[in-house]
Amino acid sequence: MSRQQTTVIKALPARFYTDPEVYRHELDAIFSATWQYACHVEKLRRPGDYLVCEIAGESLILIREDADTINAFYNVCAHRAARLVSGEGCTRRLSCPYHAWTYNTRGELIAVPNAQNVSGFDIGDYRLRPCRVEQLHGLVFVNLDDAATPMAEQVPEFARDLVTYAAEMPQLTFVHRTEAVLEANWKVALENFSECYHCELIHKKLANSVLDMNSYSIKVLECSQKHLSGSKAGDERAYAFEDQAASDFVSWWLWPNFAFQSYPGGRAHVWYWTPLDVEHTHLAVDWYFPSAEMADWEAELIHHHAQTTFREDQEIVASVQRGLNSRAYQSGPLMIDAARSQYSEHAVAAIQQLWRDAMGVDDD
Ligand code: FES
Ligand SMILES: [Fe+2]
Repeated sequence: MSRQQTTVIKALPARFYTDPEVYRHELDAIFSATWQYACHVEKLRRPGDYLVCEIAGESLILIREDADTINAFYNVCAHRAARLVSGEGCTRRLSCPYHAWTYNTRGELIAVPNAQNVSGFDIGDYRLRPCRVEQLHGLVFVNLDDAATPMAEQVPEFARDLVTYAAEMPQLTFVHRTEAVLEANWKVALENFSECYHCELIHKKLANSVLDMNSYSIKVLECSQKHLSGSKAGDERAYAFEDQAASDFVSWWLWPNFAFQSYPGGRAHVWYWTPLDVEHTHLAVDWYFPSAEMADWEAELIHHHAQTTFREDQEIVASVQRGLNSRAYQSGPLMIDAARSQYSEHAVAAIQQLWRDAMGVDDD
């Protein structure tokens, strides 16, 4: 056997992308135990601003207490479990629609009808159950694991780059969402996002008129991955942009389902993949710009991305999912080269190893 053959790493077996039991285990072992993107801080600017989001089947309330503090709670009343609020809004008092138990922005119970007539009842014994919440330069994340490592410790390189590539992130405003329900398991979508072996074939516009593929690199860190590329010059570009100093493309993926990107021209957008079931994943790409009034080139960039790279990936991940359901498929090799070049699938291997570790799976 040649030396090369002994080092080939095989992709995860297909059943891990198609089995509903595996998916249920993932909700506990992965989505309930990792930092999950909740929103941009723009949604929670004023004290009392709140937003409900769903993470791993749990409804959560995020609410701003004061200038510095955003709190997060399970959206479950401490009385008899009714859901307190939905959607978004602004209030200093979260009042349950069932029997009007009322909580403040710290989740403390502050009013209970008929409490004075119930012996043994102490209002201080009950509150909303909090969950971990952190702000990272304008991005708000939650974690259902009370013992989770703080984000700044877990992904310090990303935290620094976010400031470098999107210095104004906390002040930017939402301008557009590009979204789709992908007909693919969430890992298929993430693995596709993590490699550029396919870029020149699937994303011809991106490779020929946005990025300088010769400069493309993919760096793998413990719980994150960074893609960096220069861009095409002058009239080769698919869209013109003003700030020539912001000519890089940078993309950060955080385990398991969040990414930040800045396209040449310096326009930030965040990606979050929400698994809907074992074979369907909602993908949202939210763009944040300095002004809600888009310049022509900004609108062109969003249009270009939606009509090319985003759509092309949507089609290819659905194709992969269909193949994973075929009895013919057996785990293929990941094409990892020694130089970790732009064509190498080392980042796919890293994601699959994170997944095995989280799930306690050893398929070798
Ligand atoms: S369940 Fe909320 S007040 Fe009764
Ligand atoms: Fe792609």
